[in-house]
Amino acid sequence: MNNEQLYDKTRVPLIQLIDIYKIYQMGSTEVRANDGIDLKIMEGEFVAIVGKSGSGKSTIMNIIGALDVPTTGQYILKGQDVSKMKSDSLAEVRNKTIGFIFQQYNLLTKQNLLENVELPLLYAGIHKRERKKLAMEALARLGIEDKWKNFPNQLSGGQQQRGAVARALVGKPSLILADEPTGALDSRTSRELLDFLKQLNDEGNTIVLITHDRSVAEEAKRIVTLKDGKITFDGSVNDYRKQV
Ligand SMILES: Nc1ncnc2c1ncn2[C@@H]1O[C@H](COP(=O)(O)OP(=O)(O)O)[C@@H](O)[C@H]1O
Ligand SMILES: [Mg+2]
Repeated sequence: MNNEQLYDKTRVPLIQLIDIYKIYQMGSTEVRANDGIDLKIMEGEFVAIVGKSGSGKSTIMNIIGALDVPTTGQYILKGQDVSKMKSDSLAEVRNKTIGFIFQQYNLLTKQNLLENVELPLLYAGIHKRERKKLAMEALARLGIEDKWKNFPNQLSGGQQQRGAVARALVGKPSLILADEPTGALDSRTSRELLDFLKQLNDEGNTIVLITHDRSVAEEAKRIVTLKDGKITFDGSVNDYRKQV
């Protein structure tokens, strides 16, 4: 390997999950919500994690999103070991590295759209004028800049989700983590969001999409399936379609 290859950042996994277990003790029984997960995701990938209810999706999403830490195992995100971090450091990693898109949008009801989109930049300590500029650009990218003064309850579901996407993108995160992002949207608005995620991926963004819906998962380039806390398939959409 020559030096150029050695320092090519695309060769370094953005996400590396090594033998991840998340175990809950429920009385005398042990629930293995994640039961030995190994997964590598490179920069620029678009990966869907799919599985039925109870398969461990939320648990792994919370770990990938630095919202929680595993019981055992290692999580390396951008070369940093996140697995044993305390909540302050986790919050910093989240804010710097990850843009979240949730099913329920999670916009703050007492803040207008612009203030909601500015939030990650506020946490990042970016000056007011720059915050406003970047947030307006993100809103324009989603086609809702004229709604910047509206509060969430003055927006349609689709517009709220666009606002949430603008908020996820505004800090130029290394990872976009979407948890059932189309779960509350009608089919046309879902289509628009999925097309937008594809476009973001074409532009080089790394996307991890968590869903229970096979057809939504097939919008990604790589699919990982979960069952009983374990990975049961990891491959291309074509190969995914071949297995029943
Ligand atoms: N805090 C918890 N305490 C006990 N059991 C939990 C907890 N969180 C999740 N589980 C269990 O772990 C398994 C996986 O849950 P989860 O990750 O939420 O699955 P999914 O998101 O795919 O529906 C389920 O059996 C669930 O009941
Ligand atoms: Mg879940």
